Amino acid sequence: MFRYPAASRMRKRSRPAETDVPRCKEVKFEDVRVYLVERKMGRSRRSFLTQLATSKGFIVEDILSDKVTHVVSEDSQAASLWKWLKERAPMEPPNVHVLDISWFTDSMREGRPVAVETRHLIQDTEPTSAEGSTPTVSQYACQRRTTTENNNKIFTDAFEVLAESYEFNEIEGPCLAFRRAASVLKSLPRAVRCLGETQDLPCLGEHMKAVMEEVLQCGRSLEVEKLLSDERYQTLKLFTSVFGVGPKTADKWYRRGLRSFSDILADRSIHLNRMQQSGFLHYGDISRAVSKAEARSLRNIIDGAARAITPTAILALTGGFRRGKEFGHDVDFIVTTPELGSEESLLPKIIDRLKKQGILLYCDYHASTFDVENLPSQRFEAMDHFAKCFLILHLEDNRVEGGLHTAEGDRRGWRAVRVDLVSPPMDHYAFALLGWTGSRQFERDLRRFARGKRGMLLDNHALYDKTKNEFLAAETEKDIFAHLGLEYIEPWQRNA
Ligand code: UTP
Ligand code: MN
Repeated sequence: MFRYPAASRMRKRSRPAETDVPRCKEVKFEDVRVYLVERKMGRSRRSFLTQLATSKGFIVEDILSDKVTHVVSEDSQAASLWKWLKERAPMEPPNVHVLDISWFTDSMREGRPVAVETRHLIQDTEPTSAEGSTPTVSQYACQRRTTTENNNKIFTDAFEVLAESYEFNEIEGPCLAFRRAASVLKSLPRAVRCLGETQDLPCLGEHMKAVMEEVLQCGRSLEVEKLLSDERYQTLKLFTSVFGVGPKTADKWYRRGLRSFSDILADRSIHLNRMQQSGFLHYGDISRAVSKAEARSLRNIIDGAARAITPTAILALTGGFRRGKEFGHDVDFIVTTPELGSEESLLPKIIDRLKKQGILLYCDYHASTFDVENLPSQRFEAMDHFAKCFLILHLEDNRVEGGLHTAEGDRRGWRAVRVDLVSPPMDHYAFALLGWTGSRQFERDLRRFARGKRGMLLDNHALYDKTKNEFLAAETEKDIFAHLGLEYIEPWQRNA
């Protein structure tokens, strides 16, 4: 632990540093404890900033202890700062924010601790694992922290087009390789400005680097441009944007010579299943992003339905919105109850209520096929066995704070929204929550890491230790990360 005798001497009031008692009557923000790093800042500026913050009701700690929630530094050398911090305190990275001065100045201006954003963070660039030769950035998304802020969108957009094209052609290896590469770039705290900066990055092969080089030099990649104007790529992209249409069906239609929605709808020989019919019927609405406010409103609706059935119902938002995304293609929820077994009938009852409220436009319900006997699943990305339903709901404008996210000129006063509900038994809740929070790449890498590095099998249901031949129980996501020997990654850092 590190002490600042000089700084505490300068304080007007002397304070017992080690107690939990608020040290100033005007403390307004009990949960925030700031620590100002003197290095680079200097003693007198630190003292000035301390007084400023204290006068605004902040608690500023003299000592870097585990009570500190926000470490603020003017040292822009991330590596040396982190090294210095780690030498002085056993930091629990998930519990403490290491921030540059911009967070502090923003907070002083607002007169309250502002929410931590990526731009405030000073990222720890040191390898996280003990494996000596691990590169600075891990090849596993579950060992990286990836917020919604993507500083390398010009590259990742290009990679995504290539990955998608491989997917359409069922070439799995390169498809995953491009997704992995995009994910590595998404985790970087800043934009890559020259190819040299990619030297130590994992998952970037020759092909990826060639694309990046082109983008750096010309702002675009010829290969990607070609794909974007390719008729087959464009058509498959259009067809797979319909709910219920996967790459196989899209390709079948393409090979029949169909090129547009009207071609499909005019072709009498094509039989659309119920999901695809709804997909076309509500295409305009469900191909439009769902906003956070809309997700919140849907949460209230589902919560109301679940609580009317059982007051002990538990509802959790998962998917992209739990990761802090502003928009999503659907809204994902876990809904269950602590009484083991009762979750089985929960979804049918909720569906029934939504139907009675007249807001159920489409429902595809899958009863649970979950059987503890069949665990662990040997399949890498097996569909999970919990009871679940894929819905389209009618959402009224007046239920959404700030109104619906609809197209300009849309005066209907409602929109259709895709909602997924999954209902695991309570003793598998943590696994379901982890699995449904995503991102897909984060999940893929968690499983790959579990299998390759730990000899364990992870899926949406359970974690199995192959070396000990036993299941590892977990009540929370933190338990699962701990079993895997991984640092905990917050949901908002899983946007891999
Ligand atoms: P989504 O496809 O909804 O993705 O799946 P998302 O991250 O929320 O993104 P948007 O904003 O909707 O486009 C959410 C998570 O649920 C898992 C997926 O693997 C993903 O991590 N999932 C989805 C399942 O595990 N099983 C399913 O049947 C469906
Ligand atoms: Mn989603």
